[in-house]
Amino acid sequence: MKIIMLGAPGAGKGTQAKKIADKYQIPHISTGDIFRANLKEGTELGKKAKEYMDQGLLVPDELTLELIMDRFKNPDCAGGYVLDGFPRTIPQAEALTKALEEKGESIDFAINVEVPDENIVNRMSGRRACLACGATYHIVHIPTKVEGICDRCGKELVLRDDDKPETVKKRLGVYHDQTQPLIEYYTSQNKLAEVDGTQEMEAVFQNIVKILGA
Ligand code: AP5
Ligand code: MG
Repeated sequence: MKIIMLGAPGAGKGTQAKKIADKYQIPHISTGDIFRANLKEGTELGKKAKEYMDQGLLVPDELTLELIMDRFKNPDCAGGYVLDGFPRTIPQAEALTKALEEKGESIDFAINVEVPDENIVNRMSGRRACLACGATYHIVHIPTKVEGICDRCGKELVLRDDDKPETVKKRLGVYHDQTQPLIEYYTSQNKLAEVDGTQEMEAVFQNIVKILGA
């Protein structure tokens, strides 16, 4: 199964993608997580990506496409995947469609997690992320057992640099300009499904499971 998660920054794409990956036993591929991992390791790609990420801007398509096309070569992608944060622009979506078509394949579902802008800034300022294992929490909605420490791997949690309110507002603007047009793109391909992302996390997940089937 090949699934794309669409939605504004902070809509819950990552949270739901992890649950989908666990249930359907497919890899969770987050371009944002890959950029952050590169940043942490101090690679050239990480340094380049940081310049854009810290400003709330998108990393250029060429860099992102090179990275994701390389990731698709990994054998774990043979049975499908859940894409989180990719594609994010029309050229990225077109490149994905083309790459899949060349193999006689296509995406199964593009799931749009719908959350109004008003809810987003509040969610992001409460988010805490583990840069070691990729887990995310929320200080109110999804607290850890020990404050500031990852339940899964025991490392210290951080507030992402791009989760500061001014940067979140910028990211929302970029989302409306560059990523929202993908809703139309996948609607026209009959792949789009919408879920109400303002519900409690488990309720959102149950709606997604209904869409994906068993
Ligand atoms: P990326 O890491 O993809 O960030 P994003 O899309 O801005 O999305 P987030 O990860 O911030 O939000 P999310 O929807 O995953 O929400 P989450 O589940 O964490 O990208 C970062 C940057 O990298 C971009 O700005 C760009 O620069 C670059 N980049 C990445 N991909 C790119 C691409 N393809 N092209 C170009 N550039 C790219 O949830 C948010 C919070 O809410 C959490 O605290 C969570 O616990 C909480 N929460 C989740 N669900 C619920 C719920 N139902 N109720 C209450 N709280 C909830
Ligand atoms: Mg995410």
